[in-house]
Formats: sequence, C-alpha cells, structure tokens
Amino acid sequence: MAASDSGLLDGKTGVIFGALNESSIAWSIAEAAHRHGARFVLSNAPVARRLGSLDALAEATDSPIIWADATSDDDLSELFAQVKEEYGTIDFIVHAIGMGVNVRKDRPYEDLNYNWYQKTLDISAISLHRIVHHAMQHECLASGGSVVALSYIGAQRIFSKYSEMGDAKALLESIVRSWGYRLGQHGIRINAVSQSPTVTTAGSGISGFDSMYDFAEQISPLGNADAESCADFTVALLSDLTRMVTMQTLYHDGGFSSMGVSDELIDAFADMAAEDEG
Ligand SMILES: NC(=O)c1ccc[n+]([C@@H]2O[C@H](COP(=O)([O-])OP(=O)(O)OC[C@H]3O[C@@H](n4cnc5c(N)ncnc54)[C@H](O)[C@@H]3O)[C@@H](O)[C@H]2O)c1
Repeated sequence: MAASDSGLLDGKTGVIFGALNESSIAWSIAEAAHRHGARFVLSNAPVARRLGSLDALAEATDSPIIWADATSDDDLSELFAQVKEEYGTIDFIVHAIGMGVNVRKDRPYEDLNYNWYQKTLDISAISLHRIVHHAMQHECLASGGSVVALSYIGAQRIFSKYSEMGDAKALLESIVRSWGYRLGQHGIRINAVSQSPTVTTAGSGISGFDSMYDFAEQISPLGNADAESCADFTVALLSDLTRMVTMQTLYHDGGFSSMGVSDELIDAFADMAAEDEG
C-alpha cells in the first residue's frame, strides 16, 4: 500500500532517470514523488520512446520528458542546460538505469564479450558519474540536494546468474562514495538503495530471475520489498528528514542482507536429503 500524500517533497524539483513502463522502479518513484509534492523532469534513452510508455507517466505526473542517452555527454549536458533554464537549481536526482548486455545475450561470465561488458559498465554505473558531473557543471544541484541510485546486493555477494551486473553495481556503489565525499563540500548528499529482486523489464532479463526472486522472498523475514515500498523509501531519502545521510548503500530488502539461513530452508534441505536417502 502506498503512503499517503505528506507534502514531504513540497517545493522540491528534480530529474528522475529510468522509468520505462509501469513495472519500472522509477515509475513508482515518480508517482510517489508526485504524490508527496515534487515537480520533476522524466528522462530515458531515446530508444525507450518506442519501447516504453513514458508519455503516460508524464501526463499523470504533469512532467516534461527530456530524452537522453545516459552514456552520452552531449545528451546529458543538453539535458542539464534545459533543466537549469526550466527550474534554476534542482533538489534531487534519481538514477534507476541498468542494463547487462552479456547477461541479456546469455554470454557467461567466464567468456564475456568485452565491448558488451564496457557497455554494461557505462550504462549501469559510469552513467551515474556522468549525470552528477553534468549536473555540477551546470551548477544545477542546490545545497541540501539528494541523489539516489538503485543498486543490488550482487555488488557485495555472488549471485551467479547476476554475472557482470555484480561488477557494475560494485562500481556504482563506489561512485556513490567517491562523489559523496566531493558533493558533501557543496551540502549535497548521495546514496545507493540496494533493492530486493523486483519484477521489472531489467529484472526479468536475468536468467534464473524467478528463482532468485523466490529464494529472496523465502529467506527475507519481511519478504521481498516491492517497487512501491522502494518508492516510499526513496521519497524519504529525497526529503529533508534524511539530510545527514550520505555515501551509504542502504538495504531495502525485507531483511535479506542480514540473513544466513532460515528454518524453512533448513527444513526443505533436510526433506530433500531424506528423499535422496529413501
Ligand atoms: N528489478 C530488480 O530486481 C532490481 C533489483 C535491484 C536494483 N535494480 C535496479 O533498479 C534500477 C531500475 O531498474 P528496473 O528494475 O526498474 O528496470 P527497468 O528496465 O524498468 O529500468 C531500467 C531503465 O534503464 C534505462 N536505460 C537503459 N539504457 C539506458 C541508457 N543508455 N540511457 C538512459 N537510460 C537507459 C531503460 O530504458 C529503463 O528505463 C536499475 O539500476 C536496476 O539495476 C533492479
């Protein structure tokens, strides 16, 4: 259930990257930010124009769209020039961009195509660096501003099917810390939200996603966090209530990251072992 309108983001403006369709985490974040009083630009890669349904979200949240490839310096510079013109300075940026090219094309980690690997890192991690860089170049981010990037626990631990995306998320979280130090000098904060497996276009592109989803659902004491609850948490991070939180990877995962094994899994393995013996 979504939290009700609080006015937590009243008067705040921003840019939300990565809403493709209704299942996108960024879509839920945009809806929640709108409900809580924010105004924002929506952005996605030009190719998403024909793949997704961003126009509907733009209409529902009364937001302009600026199409920009997050791996293109020209596109991002142009985007922040336009944002500067429209809003002066902004208070937040949400980075919800990801794509594992080798993962999509079923290329195993032991035999990566390195051009695709570079593309994966460029889209999924370095784009965060670029976005913050261009926002700062255009003096777009106000003091007190907040940047949030979406991550996954595959940055710290091996989820074999997550493959190259684990490397991309590790780099993303490192960029959060590296920028965090520098942005702090401008009174701006930046954090990564490490989210549960969530049924989205990017999520379902990973082979074995359903099993990863079910495993996390079983082992997390609260179950998997859905996109709506991720959006609520992100609103909190964009609000002034979290003004002293920066450079963190914050787990939004129903408790998964603190678990080892659960009674249910032990019992399931014991049953399997008994079947094998019998
Ligand atoms: N779905 C999950 O299980 C899950 C779990 C943890 C973290 N995340 C992260 O959440 C974020 C959002 O993903 P999602 O699951 O909502 O899937 P999604 O497919 O809805 O969103 C990914 C977005 O990245 C955009 N994108 C791809 N290439 C781009 C480029 N060159 N320039 C600009 N945008 C580009 C896509 O168009 C899409 O809108 C990603 O960083 C993802 O890794 C997802």
